[in-house]
Amino acid sequence: MTAQPAHDHLVTDRSLLSTKAYGTGRHLAARQSLYRWQTPSHDLPGIVVDELTGVRGAVADVGCGNGQFVARLREDCPNLFVLPMDVSHGILGAIPGAVVTDVQQLPIADGVLSAVLALHMLYHVEDQSQAVRELGRVLAPGGIAIVSTNSQADKRELEQLWRRAAGDVLGIQEGPARVQLSARFTLEDAPAILGTVFGEIRTIPLSGVIEVTDADPVVAHLASYEAWADRMGVPFRETIERARERVNETIRAEGAFRVTCLGGILVCRGTRR
Ligand SMILES: C[S@@+](CC[C@H](N)C(=O)[O-])C[C@H]1O[C@@H](n2cnc3c(N)ncnc32)[C@H](O)[C@@H]1O
Repeated sequence: MTAQPAHDHLVTDRSLLSTKAYGTGRHLAARQSLYRWQTPSHDLPGIVVDELTGVRGAVADVGCGNGQFVARLREDCPNLFVLPMDVSHGILGAIPGAVVTDVQQLPIADGVLSAVLALHMLYHVEDQSQAVRELGRVLAPGGIAIVSTNSQADKRELEQLWRRAAGDVLGIQEGPARVQLSARFTLEDAPAILGTVFGEIRTIPLSGVIEVTDADPVVAHLASYEAWADRMGVPFRETIERARERVNETIRAEGAFRVTCLGGILVCRGTRR
């Protein structure tokens, strides 16, 4: 199941990203919090810290969102100067030293960074090739880019839940797919796109199962797509409430509602110049 092409421009619409989607960290936090119920749990900031062991100098976290990676790097890597960057002013809140900028045109000189992060953000970027060129351009020789995204198989159960709940609301078997953010830059597509700039790409796959016995975290995750509510082709709130009922039915019948997750971190080196 992939995103409908009609949704594509919505996922990259900068005015929507910097207001309804990421004008604050509320929706991102709702999506991040679902992983509290995942087994095994993956410490993503910890993995990034490990990959940066021994690296000194400056690292930019581009599309840093609410800054969970920035905070961890500042805590665990005192040898690094961390530069938080995001296109959405509001989500940067009080992150010290943050800069509002677009990854497609970084205000950074050539070859000055030891590392650059682009975590769960390239699917929002209109010209991904240009963004990847920028990641390569700002890296010093031997520099490292760390990118993350989700597989096309990630959280299939949520997509199915949405379509069935939407179908219930519309009185048909399955309603339209919801906007799918990572479909524009999946774990499967990423190596080819990154490979135009980086000669060496190592993928760290991160799989797990989310299991909830209360519908609230799943409902909060679905509701975090509110920015795209009027483009889903179905009444948004009504579909969410119908999804809640379906999750509760599954919990009553099976003891839990399960969601299989597959994401990954791509560690890129060897910038082609
Ligand atoms: C899903 S959040 C990921 C946040 C953070 N990297 C993380 O993994 O927790 C995507 C972030 O990318 C930002 N973003 C989207 N398009 C961007 C662009 N063209 N340049 C810089 N940041 C962008 C959004 O504002 C949002 O904060």
